[in-house]
Amino acid sequence: MTGSGTFITFEGIDGAGKSTHLTALADGLRAQGREVLVTREPGGTPLAEGLRALFLQQEMDPLTEALLVFAGRRDHLARVILPALARGSAVLCDRFTDATFAYQGGGRGFDLAVLQQLEAWVQRPPGAVAAAPIQPDLTLWFDLPPAVAAARRAAARAADRLEREDSAFFERVRSGYALRAEQAPQRFVRIDADRPPEAVWAQVQQAVAARGWV
Ligand SMILES: Nc1ncnc2c1ncn2[C@@H]1O[C@H](COP(=O)(O)OP(=O)(O)O)[C@@H](O)[C@H]1O
Ligand SMILES: [Mg+2]
Repeated sequence: MTGSGTFITFEGIDGAGKSTHLTALADGLRAQGREVLVTREPGGTPLAEGLRALFLQQEMDPLTEALLVFAGRRDHLARVILPALARGSAVLCDRFTDATFAYQGGGRGFDLAVLQQLEAWVQRPPGAVAAAPIQPDLTLWFDLPPAVAAARRAAARAADRLEREDSAFFERVRSGYALRAEQAPQRFVRIDADRPPEAVWAQVQQAVAARGWV
């Protein structure tokens, strides 16, 4: 349950094409008169952006990392995402909880049961005693071989701590996303991101149109 709005998340490793297509979809929805909120995780509020800076720059143990990410997520949900959905906005979020499962769970091998518990607490609707966690209405997973993504981003900018991980790490991240997609097939759409930009965009448009949103 996400109010009257539409909550769409963009997932995949760096260089997959998330930002490119998030921007294009935001423009497309605005052109149709929709109110659109563009945001990202980790981050999306001053508190969560501060936590993001710590998370990206410093080494920390996996539980500390997971707690920081989920603390920021609670702030982001309660203060930004849920109010926007209640107003009827389309909320386009660059990464969300699936990324935590893919990176911390798949990539680093962190205990998935702990992540599931944090997800259940953090994504519980505010004020609800026992309710299913709030989830995106649609998750676009931009999937491609890590080597292709690495080639795309190589010249673009300096790598941060997570981007400097090796290809085996990114294969585990990819497997982490695949597991989440298997577990929630109704909200996940796998986008074949190893295609020319027009072909990737066509897949995004089809996923959104299939739900009657454009
Ligand atoms: N389908 C594509 N084919 C080739 N290059 C692409 C494609 N999609 C995006 N790119 C380029 O790859 C780089 C990473 O894209 P970006 O959208 O920033 O990915 P992400 O946000 O997932 O890291 C950018 O330079 C972008 O222009
Ligand atoms: Mg990006």
